[in-house]
Amino acid sequence: MIKVALPNKGQLFEPTMDILAACGYRVSRSLRSLSTLDTENGIEFYFLRPGDIPMYVAEGILDAGVTGMDFVAEKQVEPTKLLDFDYGTSKLCIAVPADSELASMEDLSKRNARIATSFPNIVRRNHYQGPLVELEGAVEISIKLGIADAIVDIVETGTTLKQAGLKIIGEPLFRSNAALYAHPDREAQDAVCILKSRIEGRLLALEYMMVEYDAPESVLEAACAITPGIESPTVTPLQKAGWFAVKAMVRRKGSQKILDTLSRLGCKGILLTSIDSARI
Ligand code: PRP
Repeated sequence: MIKVALPNKGQLFEPTMDILAACGYRVSRSLRSLSTLDTENGIEFYFLRPGDIPMYVAEGILDAGVTGMDFVAEKQVEPTKLLDFDYGTSKLCIAVPADSELASMEDLSKRNARIATSFPNIVRRNHYQGPLVELEGAVEISIKLGIADAIVDIVETGTTLKQAGLKIIGEPLFRSNAALYAHPDREAQDAVCILKSRIEGRLLALEYMMVEYDAPESVLEAACAITPGIESPTVTPLQKAGWFAVKAMVRRKGSQKILDTLSRLGCKGILLTSIDSARI
């Protein structure tokens, strides 16, 4: 039995639950319970604050966990990153009121501005020596409440900043996405490897689609050239002489164009279907 941490809130919560459920893990939990047991897969899932997960995994209290790269960077610990997710993509940005003349970290330093943040270590690593106001969340409201002049916080879509009447200044201090981490001594454990491989399989499946079609022999070569698959397309003779059934994985992006081309070539019965999971 391995122990795996999952984010219990924020932007990382839902996509993490979705991907693990799609990978066949039982992550559903009763309201407010902090852990759930997936006996079939030999995993106990713990629902933790994303900012606490790096410490639990780095210290080996838990074997693996999903959290944001920014939370790991902030805690200054080094769990092993096993893979990146395509969600939780965010930037850690400096923001000030929309009408402020402050335009850079240097300006904030010169004014000895109070920066509110949940990421004090990253701010300090960016050479800010001025006063910091450490907050656990809802950082965007701190300027309006009069306790800070600027903030450093996670920006995904920018909606929260906009609603709070703030604007980004300078370059992002950190670029992040969600990732799967493991304690360095546990990354080779069976259940950890299976977790990684199932997630990789799911991520891959989302990138690809399956195309199937019937092609007359005269265009088979041209059709296979645009649907080469991963190793090679599966080509099976049909009962009807001179026709072949072809099956191949294609990248989701651009798959509709492939269908257009196959159709123009004279292929028939062209089907495009989603893939739930894959191992290549
Ligand atoms: C994060 C972050 C911002 C918000 C930014 O909060 O702290 O508040 O998302 O997203 P946006 O740019 O799309 O508006 P999250 O919901 O993860 O939780 P938190 O409030 O506890 O930080």
